Amino acid sequence: MAEAEVPATYAWPTNGHLIEEVARLGYLTRGMMTLDPTYGHGVFWRRWKPDVLIASDLKEAKSPWGASVDFRDLPWGDGLFDAVVFDPPYKLNGEPDEEVDERYGVDERTRWQDRMQLIHDGLDECVRVLRKKKPRTLLLKCQDQVVSGRIRWQTRVFADQVEAHGLRLVDRFDLLGSCRPQPSGRRQVHAHCRPSSLLVFQ
Ligand SMILES: C[S@@+](CC[C@H](N)C(=O)[O-])C[C@H]1O[C@@H](n2cnc3c(N)ncnc32)[C@H](O)[C@@H]1O
Repeated sequence: MAEAEVPATYAWPTNGHLIEEVARLGYLTRGMMTLDPTYGHGVFWRRWKPDVLIASDLKEAKSPWGASVDFRDLPWGDGLFDAVVFDPPYKLNGEPDEEVDERYGVDERTRWQDRMQLIHDGLDECVRVLRKKKPRTLLLKCQDQVVSGRIRWQTRVFADQVEAHGLRLVDRFDLLGSCRPQPSGRRQVHAHCRPSSLLVFQ
């Protein structure tokens, strides 16, 4: 791909490839002091990394900060970070899959409403610790998905929440993944196999 050609929708092999594109467009820069409060296995940062990356996770073993940090109660002051990259456990349903569930941080059964609330609460905290003036960037990974026969438009409800804080949705990357066939006998009335989305706010 030529330097400026970054597609909005693509099957990037990993989230790390996607972050590299986000940086290529200048939404993240090396000099931005960046927080990742959902570090997990650190896949996001395997190809590109800012000079200062503060990273944490609820699971102590996955938290480079060295302690468990709940993203609903971040131990950092208001407006400290130039960039915050939030990749919460956004998967709301589906057949349990130990490996995937561990990676997505959804290895405990939770009602989808409670999982949505968890993300709402985390987002408010991410905005709190984000710099109040430009240049600043908030990245949110989420996915529109069907639960109990209705589409839960995560991209829409979370964008509305963040924009109510005065940030603006300036870009969106849709990452195409592999498609799982519907279990037999289940009537699927909506289009399925939606991409996961990376929303960029400034
Ligand atoms: C989708 S995964 C993040 C994957 C990560 N971006 C990577 O590159 O590997 C979500 C992560 O959020 C963490 N998590 C879940 N609830 C949390 C909470 N309340 N506070 C902080 N981290 C949480 C999980 O442990 C999991 O590592």
